[in-house]
Amino acid sequence: MNIRVINGPNLNMLGIREPDIYGKTTYASLCQMIKDYADEKGVDVELFQSNHEGDLVDYIQDSLGKADGIVINPGAYTHTSIAILDAAKAVNLPMVEVHISDVDEREPFRKTSYIRAACLKTISGHGISGYTEAIDFLIGRKNEG
Ligand code: DQA
Repeated sequence: MNIRVINGPNLNMLGIREPDIYGKTTYASLCQMIKDYADEKGVDVELFQSNHEGDLVDYIQDSLGKADGIVINPGAYTHTSIAILDAAKAVNLPMVEVHISDVDEREPFRKTSYIRAACLKTISGHGISGYTEAIDFLIGRKNEG
């Protein structure tokens, strides 16, 4: 099983950006944690981060025929990007939306999520554990059927 984990803008700044909201774990440590977890579970994982909307669209499109599922934290593009939603709908892969912070308990503009319409599940406010929970969800779903 291959799972792609996609992070959008500013998630490369984890550990530096607003640590009270996003925690002190760096993006590099997050990647290592995800790789270790995937190894433990016996799944292949590929990680991608970009600050550019079109690059995120390209990577989602590239996942067709290569990934069995996608974990995505589109960062601020969650709240703005119809292009990322359309790419997700186009590839039609099992997808889980992850947010480190609880987007529903923050500013009103963070309550809107375009990507949610293409996702089987949303995990929000569980910190970086949300990524491994999302991987578990995709593995569980695959094992069920
Ligand atoms: C985020 C929440 C978004 O509102 C924000 O723009 C981010 C990170 C999160 O993981 O909590 O960049 O997706």
